[in-house]
Amino acid sequence: MRNEFIFGSIFISIGTAVGAYFYFPVIFLFILWVPLIILGVLDLNSKRHTIVANYPLFGRFRYVMEELRPKIYQYFIESDTDGTPINRVSRSVVYQRAKKQLDTTPFGTQLDIYKPGYEWINHSITPLALDHLNPDDLRIDVGGKDCSQPYSLSLLNISAMSYGSLSSHAILALNWGAKLGNFAHNTGEGGISPYHEEHGGDIIWQIGTGYFGCRTPKGEFCAKSFEEKARKPQVKMIELKVSQGAKPGHGGILPAEKNTPEIAKMRQVEPYTSVFSPGFHSVFSGVEGLVDFIKTLRHLSCGKPIGIKLCIGDPSEFNDLCVEMKRQNTFPDFLSIDGGEGGTGAAPPEFSNSIGMGLRDGLIIANDYLMLHGIRDQVRLIASGKVVTGFDMVKVLALGADACYSARAMMLALGCIQALECNKNKCPTGVATQRPDLYKGLDVEDKYVRVANYHQGTLESVAEILCAAGISDIKHLNRRHIWRRISFNEIKNYEELFPYPEKFLKSVC
Ligand SMILES: Cc1cc2nc3c(=O)[nH]c(=O)nc-3n(C[C@H](O)[C@H](O)[C@H](O)COP(=O)(O)O)c2cc1C
Repeated sequence: MRNEFIFGSIFISIGTAVGAYFYFPVIFLFILWVPLIILGVLDLNSKRHTIVANYPLFGRFRYVMEELRPKIYQYFIESDTDGTPINRVSRSVVYQRAKKQLDTTPFGTQLDIYKPGYEWINHSITPLALDHLNPDDLRIDVGGKDCSQPYSLSLLNISAMSYGSLSSHAILALNWGAKLGNFAHNTGEGGISPYHEEHGGDIIWQIGTGYFGCRTPKGEFCAKSFEEKARKPQVKMIELKVSQGAKPGHGGILPAEKNTPEIAKMRQVEPYTSVFSPGFHSVFSGVEGLVDFIKTLRHLSCGKPIGIKLCIGDPSEFNDLCVEMKRQNTFPDFLSIDGGEGGTGAAPPEFSNSIGMGLRDGLIIANDYLMLHGIRDQVRLIASGKVVTGFDMVKVLALGADACYSARAMMLALGCIQALECNKNKCPTGVATQRPDLYKGLDVEDKYVRVANYHQGTLESVAEILCAAGISDIKHLNRRHIWRRISFNEIKNYEELFPYPEKFLKSVC
């Protein structure tokens, strides 16, 4: 729309001038055109609002509509009922937080607390001072017994989203934000691009089934190029992607329109063709091969933390994985558990909507099986799947996670409006597109600060929630702290709903 606006303005101005030449009063139309053109030129140069910069004049309607929408409507919209993946309440938390606007809401609770499914944490009769916990200290060390380069991971990090799926400007802003806020940025399966490296934010390098960035011309895993990249100081951890919640068992999809020559070169594929990475790894097979491959990656990376990303499927397979880890006495340093509610740039609808276990269930299975096998302390758990607010984080940490990833909330911090165009290369906010006319409107210098603000504000919220609940150390947070309304007259805490394995064992023996 930028070019259309420029040509349209020139056309209207010349047309009006020619009209005035033949019939003088037409010149008064300039009274209308000039302010509109000035406003449009200001919009073209807007750094704060990508939509306005990409759609001069017309983009303003979005903000007008936002103002007109009855505010009260927002208050009663509960999770997932407004037809967008991240609900309005959580989304406005991200927007406000990223822009460092007011971090408060007016008038009271926005959710129906008597509706079954409502969840909360109980406060303490003796809360701690709100500054008792420093958000900057909300970190964990990742690196088990065989890791020689452990990494101090923030409790909130940017989940895997590739350059290809996201634009260069989005990647630049995310990584710069990670650098500013001292947290980690996962590359996604597309591998490390120059945009990941420009600002030097900590990288978690993800390797998917396509082995982009470490593959042979035939598409197999290439140990030599893996070794070279894994040893870069900016790469702090390596994540082997086995599956992703939005399309488990399917493999990645890069739509043809987004596969530009630059991206194709990086991925060693044909430009402007759809790229489907397989649903399985060719370099190993079975859980035995998977555990063995962890050793290979650890060796090649000189002892950096190695993790596996997966959406939990058949619990018995996860059990087999635990058995195999014990048998080989080899453990991933971390497991990233992605929920079936997770996001993606492009996926078949059935895979997005009906395959893979939700985060809560998957996380409980992972945590409890590791406990049952006595190996929970060997592995860190990172959780992802609609983790957006501080309370979302507290809930998954209480269930068993050690840290969290967020993908779509980070996109919202960049200015995503959930236009749901990621798979069409038409993202109007320049976040999930490779069209220069769209991504150039995403001002990196403005947005990287928003990414860091969102991260910082959310960790502050976690710290404050813990203080209100009288929890002096994140380690003490557990399932007993989180409550859920079951029905009109019944509430239960997570420990009653999901008993820890010891109790589970006692109850079945
Ligand atoms: C645009 C986009 C691209 C993604 N690309 C990848 C990817 O390359 N590899 C991967 O493992 N997950 C990918 N994901 C999934 C996210 O990393 C994350 O697991 C999932 O969206 C759940 O987190 P969320 O609910 O915070 O978005 C992608 C998600 C989105 C929205």
